[in-house]
Amino acid sequence: MLSKYRWWRDAVIYQVYVRSFLDSTGDGIGDLAGVRAGLPYLKKLGVDGIWLSPFYPSPQHDHGYDVADYCGVDPLFGDLAEFDLLIAAARRLGVKVLLDVVPNHCSSEHPWFQEALASAPGSAARDRFHFSDGRGADGAEPPNNWHSMFGGPAWTRVTEPDGRPGQWYLHMFAPEQPDWNWRNRQTGAEFDRVLRFWLDRGIDGFRIDVAAGLYKHPELPDSDDPEADARTRDSVNPLAWNQPEVHDVWRHWRAVCEEYTAGDGRERLLVGEVSVPTAREHAQYVRPDELHQAFFFDLLSAPWSADAFRKVISEAMQDIAGTGSTVTWVLNNHDQVRTVTRYGEPATEGSGLGAARARAAALLMLALPGAAYIYQGEELGLPEVVDLPDDVLTDPIFRRTGSRARIRDGCRVPLPWSGQASPFGFTSGAESARPWLPQPSYFAEYATDRALADTRSFWHLYRDGLQLRAALPQLGEGTLDWLDTPPGVLAFVRGDGLVCAVNFGTAPVPAPVSGTPLLSSGPCTAGVLPGSTAAWWIGDL
Ligand code: GLC
Repeated sequence: MLSKYRWWRDAVIYQVYVRSFLDSTGDGIGDLAGVRAGLPYLKKLGVDGIWLSPFYPSPQHDHGYDVADYCGVDPLFGDLAEFDLLIAAARRLGVKVLLDVVPNHCSSEHPWFQEALASAPGSAARDRFHFSDGRGADGAEPPNNWHSMFGGPAWTRVTEPDGRPGQWYLHMFAPEQPDWNWRNRQTGAEFDRVLRFWLDRGIDGFRIDVAAGLYKHPELPDSDDPEADARTRDSVNPLAWNQPEVHDVWRHWRAVCEEYTAGDGRERLLVGEVSVPTAREHAQYVRPDELHQAFFFDLLSAPWSADAFRKVISEAMQDIAGTGSTVTWVLNNHDQVRTVTRYGEPATEGSGLGAARARAAALLMLALPGAAYIYQGEELGLPEVVDLPDDVLTDPIFRRTGSRARIRDGCRVPLPWSGQASPFGFTSGAESARPWLPQPSYFAEYATDRALADTRSFWHLYRDGLQLRAALPQLGEGTLDWLDTPPGVLAFVRGDGLVCAVNFGTAPVPAPVSGTPLLSSGPCTAGVLPGSTAAWWIGDL
């Protein structure tokens, strides 16, 4: 039976990218003890829960999204005892904890993949993955024409135990991330064990990596348009993604969660990273017996334009809310250029147009019906670090494509906590400790101690927005009605009388409500909504 209060429906969850949050050991890499030390900060911010990026044993080819052991903690990040302490501390503070589970692929160092490499073609060990003979003379061509999301072919050829060039295996991401074969029943059974292992340790749910993946077309046929697949990181290859069978997995995982909920009344949450072409297909993942939530990335992908934002919000409300779930909004994550930079000039200063727009977008997101996810550093207004030197870049996309385009290191630079110089309190080790990615000197302006002390900071905007969300029933689940507005402006009413308006232009416009706003993303006097600004009012229209 479902618990009555479905906490996740309008929850705000904070994504902790563990290796860049807070380092307790002085090795320059954030860890679980650092997350525990940072919990009071997150509680003060006012989030309902955290999602921890992968901390499992891993060779770190894709920073933990290459999992070698799904039921452990990599010594880089701590151990299971530290994990248990973190869960206990979070429980005491009333902060929910979600783990990141990676079911589409594992690490090439996973014992089952190592067993597959050591076994013969056609063996049971190989059937847990996608091994195929190659095409062409001597099988030297990949079995099909699919591209990897990280660039290059989606297949890598192995050397057989006898030393000869042999079969190929499928990897939709890096070669160090072989895809599981979900048509083999052992795969699903193994993930049942993994889910229960962590649920038994007291977590509140999972963020599911690549949740439209897992199953491939059974024949693994050629794609009709491999060049189109290669041009985009969106999951467009209809043979490799979004297969109907994946929905059975989410129904089953939901049932596992419900079983735990029935046991103790605490509702567990599944949130999927679902990249599919349309809002309608997206909605299928959040049907009542499937995932609770799926990130709605269209808001994140929308350009800074009133029309674009209105279109994606309306589509989401129509298609996803119609399933009985709520929409899960997101503006930033560890794979995307940060909003301050994305919406603005490529400058590194936080006072420009990009920062004003990012603040306005935050207020807009927090006023929408549904759940929201915040990526660490978003609450500080951190810009993307756009000038990392090539020799420190670690993103496999950079290695596989040789391109600086869309590399993801720039949003993963360790957080500044205090002080005037790197490591800005990120590492509690020796002064000489170096964060795993270099922090620019201007991070001093964004450090959490300065943010907390300055009421005009991003931090205060997020904290005030979250406090109002918790206090005002209009900002929970419920209706959104658009108001008539001039071009370049969006305004809507939530519930009985909370108005949110955003001016996407640069010139001031008359405000839709006469009084002084409850909260605004920039300086705002009664009756006027300045450019690149959002505000909330309760009052007469
Ligand atoms: C997801 C993760 C990303 C990772 C990829 C492969 O998109 O968010 O960081 O590289 O999956 O696991």
